[in-house]
Amino acid sequence: TGKFTYDPGFLSTASCSSAITYIDGDKGELLYRGYPIDQIAVQCDYMETCYLILYGELPNAEQKKAFSDRVTQHTMVHEQMQFFLRGFRRDAHPMAVLTGLVGAMSAFYPDSINVNDPEQRDISAIRLIAKMPTLVAMAYKYNQGQPYMYPRNDLSYAANFMRMMWATPCEDYVPNPVIERALDRIFILHADHEQNASTSTVRLCASSGTNPFAAIAAGVACLWGPAHGGANEACLNMLDDIQAKGGVAKIGEFISEVKDKNSSVRLMGFGHRVYKNYDPRAKLMRETCHEVLDALGLHNDPLFKLAMTLEKIALEDDYFIQRKLYPNVDFYSGIVQKAIGVPVSLFTANFALARTVGWIAQLNEMLTDPEYKIGRPRQLFTGSVRRDVKPIAERG
Ligand code: CMC
Repeated sequence: TGKFTYDPGFLSTASCSSAITYIDGDKGELLYRGYPIDQIAVQCDYMETCYLILYGELPNAEQKKAFSDRVTQHTMVHEQMQFFLRGFRRDAHPMAVLTGLVGAMSAFYPDSINVNDPEQRDISAIRLIAKMPTLVAMAYKYNQGQPYMYPRNDLSYAANFMRMMWATPCEDYVPNPVIERALDRIFILHADHEQNASTSTVRLCASSGTNPFAAIAAGVACLWGPAHGGANEACLNMLDDIQAKGGVAKIGEFISEVKDKNSSVRLMGFGHRVYKNYDPRAKLMRETCHEVLDALGLHNDPLFKLAMTLEKIALEDDYFIQRKLYPNVDFYSGIVQKAIGVPVSLFTANFALARTVGWIAQLNEMLTDPEYKIGRPRQLFTGSVRRDVKPIAERG
């Protein structure tokens, strides 16, 4: 290809250097700033994880408190965001709403365009992490036609989100600690994942020097797709579909359809571009999934039984074994979210909420990299050779 390498889908191109997340797809290893995900998920909470991803080190107790206090001070969004939200159809998909709301924040924080100012970069990071749960909950309440719940700063990050989602002004709300921990774990496991499609989108977008809120909105838009963050929603829709056609008895038929060379049906929540042996996040999410199903007495619910049977059948099937297709984190995160009462259409928005810290950390890392340049991929041109324009009367 002459001067450049043709690499569709960037299967073998490193677009940047990064010190944030390390993945070894063959070993099934994921490290945030050097720490294994299984240690972080068990020993740290999401606030500590955010601090680690943003600043490179785990916080001590004092640093953690100062960071959490700072985040909680920024959880409210400008009242005018409500008017912007009202412009959407009431049944608008939360990811459509979130893309708009996050982008709109650029207008509320115009100074954030000064991306070369470290203070501006830092406050934008804090604002984004703090306000994402508020925006996702607002999108949900708008769908429901219920009043928005303002954030409460005496609650944990996850519990505050739960309250904004599920409380009403009419009654007290006590967050269930099992659900709080499950959500916190979902957030930890989705916090960063090196140069995936949405993170690469954020970097490419921000490489022009645009406003960070606009760049993160681009990440939200990219994440929406079913091959990326939309997989958890697509997975639940797939389970609902099999359930509607007859449930467990129809799994064989569904698997045959997936295996059919002429069909484009995929087993959603299975397979990964990088993890070819197993997804370490999936193992942790699977644990949480069983904890939640036990705590809520849902193990015998037909949909969850179906999911567990489908997982078992696929893991023993040659088609999946040969192609090294294992459940990914989204297979279980969808099931957990469904069990704790998150509507399916909000699954990807929760993924966006959790990934925001990774996006903004990657964006800030890029802006401080002396080698950073505006992203400008090349192409392999396959169109017409040079030709001359004919007068309109002579065109065929
Ligand atoms: N179900 C059935 N067959 C599959 C699947 C699947 N989920 N995934 C891959 N294959 C087959 C594919 O048909 C191909 O077979 P063949 O060699 O016979 O043509 C082979 O496996 C390789 O597939 P590929 O598309 O080249 O693999 P990839 O590495 O480009 O794709 C993937 C990775 C995640 C897009 C894909 O596995 C997929 O579509 N999975 C379902 C969607 C999903 O769960 N996505 C979430 C990913 S994890 C969350 C995140 O990081 O965003």
